[in-house]
Amino acid sequence: MKLGVNIDHIATIRNARGYNDSNSLIRAANICAKNKVNILTVHLREDRRHIKDKDLIALKKNSKIPINLEMALTKEMINIAKKIKPSYICLVPEKRKEITTEGGIDINKISKNLLKSLTQFCTKQNISLSAFIDPNKEQILLAKKYKFDTVEIHTGSLENKIISKKIILKISKAVHFAYSQNLIVNAGHGLNFNNIQYLPNKNLINALHIGHFVIFESIFESFDKVLKKLKKITQ
Ligand code: PXP
Repeated sequence: MKLGVNIDHIATIRNARGYNDSNSLIRAANICAKNKVNILTVHLREDRRHIKDKDLIALKKNSKIPINLEMALTKEMINIAKKIKPSYICLVPEKRKEITTEGGIDINKISKNLLKSLTQFCTKQNISLSAFIDPNKEQILLAKKYKFDTVEIHTGSLENKIISKKIILKISKAVHFAYSQNLIVNAGHGLNFNNIQYLPNKNLINALHIGHFVIFESIFESFDKVLKKLKKITQ
């Protein structure tokens, strides 16, 4: 499986101090490259709460890792995608008050005119177009009907305290069905060191997209190292 790392959370921490240069993101992208991360995932939200436009431009310019642009289906985002030309685009639903993407997109409800314009652009530029969907058959069939080449199956339910057989079966059926429809199957949301083991049909999954856990866990993996360095400096 390919690994896509969502580095938006680095921008969130940067923004908390009102800093606005893209250096921290480029630094993160370089560490991703060093560790052979396959895809750099960024979600340019309409409210720009984490990654900003200039971060995306800087990442495109300075990083060799293919970019997966997560975005809402709006005219503004399509225009940005046209300028940036990421390797992958993943359509996600956006709600202003949500803390993170809460559920998959309902392909029935998105603008078919905007989608047509985006699919035409993606085909022309050889950009892979994905829909972030809940693990259900109807959405997979809609993804196929509207010419997405990829689906990203929402795995947020694997974050539950108890991972029931029912949850695993639901994801398993979705992965299997999407694959049988000749769609490229990705998965993401809420994944961590532990719950990846419950992910079914791994051999059918092309890429995983992981964000919050990577950044949160990184704090504790390096806290010790940073404090040791600081103690040495302040001796
Ligand atoms: N995939 C998609 C489509 C997302 O919107 C997100 C969250 O930004 C992720 C994956 C990563 O989820 P998490 O941060 O829970 O790992």
